Amino acid sequence: MEKKFFNHIVHGGDYNPDQWLKTPEIIDEDMRLMKLAHINSATVGIFSWSMLEPREGVYNFQWLDEMMDKLHSNGIDVILATPSGARPAWLSQKYPEVLRVEENGIRNDFGVRHNHCLTSPVYRKKVNAINRAIAERYKNHPALKMWHISNEYCGECHCELCQSAFREWLKKYYDNDLEKLNDSWWNGFWSHRITDWSQINSPKYRGENHISAMKLCWDRFVTDSHISFYENEIAPIREITPDIPITTNFMRMYNGIDYQKFAKHLDLVSWDNYPCFGESESNIDAAVETAFCHDTFRSMKNGQPFFMMESTPSLVNWHDVNKLPKPKMQTLTAIQSVAHGADSVQYFQWRKSRGSHEKFHGAVVDHCGNENTRVFREVATTGAALEKLSNVAGVYCDSKVAIICDWDNSRAVHHFCGYNNKRRDYYAECIKWYRPFWEMGVSADVISMDDDFSKYGLVIAPFLYMLKDNTESKIEEYVRNGGNFVMTYLGAVVDKDDLCYLGGLPANGLKKVFGIWCEETDSLPENMKGKATFNGKEYDVNHVCDIIHSKGAKILGEYRSDFYAGLPSVTENEYGSGKAYYVGFRNDEDLAGDFCRWMAEKENISADSDISVPCGVSVRKRGDSIFVMNFNNEDKEIILQDGSKTVIAANDYLVL
Ligand code: GAL
Repeated sequence: MEKKFFNHIVHGGDYNPDQWLKTPEIIDEDMRLMKLAHINSATVGIFSWSMLEPREGVYNFQWLDEMMDKLHSNGIDVILATPSGARPAWLSQKYPEVLRVEENGIRNDFGVRHNHCLTSPVYRKKVNAINRAIAERYKNHPALKMWHISNEYCGECHCELCQSAFREWLKKYYDNDLEKLNDSWWNGFWSHRITDWSQINSPKYRGENHISAMKLCWDRFVTDSHISFYENEIAPIREITPDIPITTNFMRMYNGIDYQKFAKHLDLVSWDNYPCFGESESNIDAAVETAFCHDTFRSMKNGQPFFMMESTPSLVNWHDVNKLPKPKMQTLTAIQSVAHGADSVQYFQWRKSRGSHEKFHGAVVDHCGNENTRVFREVATTGAALEKLSNVAGVYCDSKVAIICDWDNSRAVHHFCGYNNKRRDYYAECIKWYRPFWEMGVSADVISMDDDFSKYGLVIAPFLYMLKDNTESKIEEYVRNGGNFVMTYLGAVVDKDDLCYLGGLPANGLKKVFGIWCEETDSLPENMKGKATFNGKEYDVNHVCDIIHSKGAKILGEYRSDFYAGLPSVTENEYGSGKAYYVGFRNDEDLAGDFCRWMAEKENISADSDISVPCGVSVRKRGDSIFVMNFNNEDKEIILQDGSKTVIAANDYLVL
């Protein structure tokens, strides 16, 4: 069911008035400045635990009461955070078990953030209690519009509590059958058979770290620990404010948590977007990568609008060199997010901190404290522009094409040892196959292998090394029913537990679906390039390639180098009423683009609009609005639907 949470584009971001309570005049000035900047929302309380509970069980809500009222009376909504991302010193001091233990087995001292055990019953109890108190306090506050749970969940803990929780997780996963675990981890190898669950510890460099199936289990356990930690956090919130939507902010393509799984537990997906605009000559690669992330997060809930929970209004402080983005890039970043399905443009942070770690991170209000800055003016311009885009708020997006970029697969790809160990770049590979659609103005979803394929005319699965239990049958059914499925090198090699499929690749019945057999896989060092063709054009073979034989598939290209010259490199197989394609080699230049353009033409996959644009200008349709965005540092001419020409300035946009 489609859910619409907002009727306008939310414009705001992290607001930390608790850092400024000793200068109330600054907080009053914030209200004036927020209105000037067209801010309609503030995210409050993300790291406020020590202000809210200065001593155990002693709550101080007075400052937050005043803030909630002040923001509300100034027409600004509140996204209220739970503070579990960082905790007060008293808590760590009194209950050391809440502190995280690193892989080296040493418990951390108090400090930084995200430094907590995910399993600790004490920490869960304390988090639950403060969340309950916050929810009770503000359940009827008119400013409260959404919950922001914790902040960027991440990391893992290796303490004894987590070790036992991992063992319990494994018992459940393997039906309490140790033999099943031994078989699945192939523990006959190096004499690793286990005879008691207590012999298992988390993977670590000074212990077991070569069983890839075990590492995959650990990854899944860590994801489930985060989800159950989150479920514990939201229990009182759901109970007390059942109608207020809940989110937690994700971080780009962070590999430590399976976001595709986690997203199912959120009302709305949100993510923190820090593109590297301005850090190289051209912004186009960063624009494509950011578009890919937006589409990934949007696809996690079937096209439901998401929130861009954070972005910087100017620079960050955590790159090696923190270059200022050029004028207009902030607005373009905002517009790009809305074009791809965001219902919010939010910043980290509203006012620059005076001290500590992030005092040189960009903020809407700089240390000068007034509105007379380039950054402030640009944010205000963005805010005014967003007010005119309410028509797209809540509008879902559909796509004709899907790229499978699966979190679980990414970890399996990361863990195995073999072939080209240096060049795995799973996400880069997915982006490579996404990019041609971005260039063509064809909207694409980025999905997991668990998602529904049937609504797409074309599904591309780059480097889909691992299959889950039903993936093979989903691919078979999709192609049989008329779909176009593209798989690339090292596809369908292992099952969900990282055991290799026997009987030849690709797995089981997929040999029939693709009409091929893959006999061997070759890897090429960086300085060695092979040659292969597709549709008569010759390409380099980079890093890895499969040596395949046609078993009925049409041959669209062949290898031109090494002992496998003459064997197929790209194939097409008719199966049922659809087609299955196999691209056997990796190429870092034109192959993905040429292949996707050929497919789009052949299968009538047309651009979302008739606007014709040059390289680096992206066109995106959302609802009735067409967004045209120029990521070039030069002005560009575009041709509109009626054939007329217009110029779009460097780093500027149009909404038609
Ligand atoms: C985010 C984080 C914020 C802030 C920001 C700086 O990852 O959620 O709290 O640290 O980075 O870029």
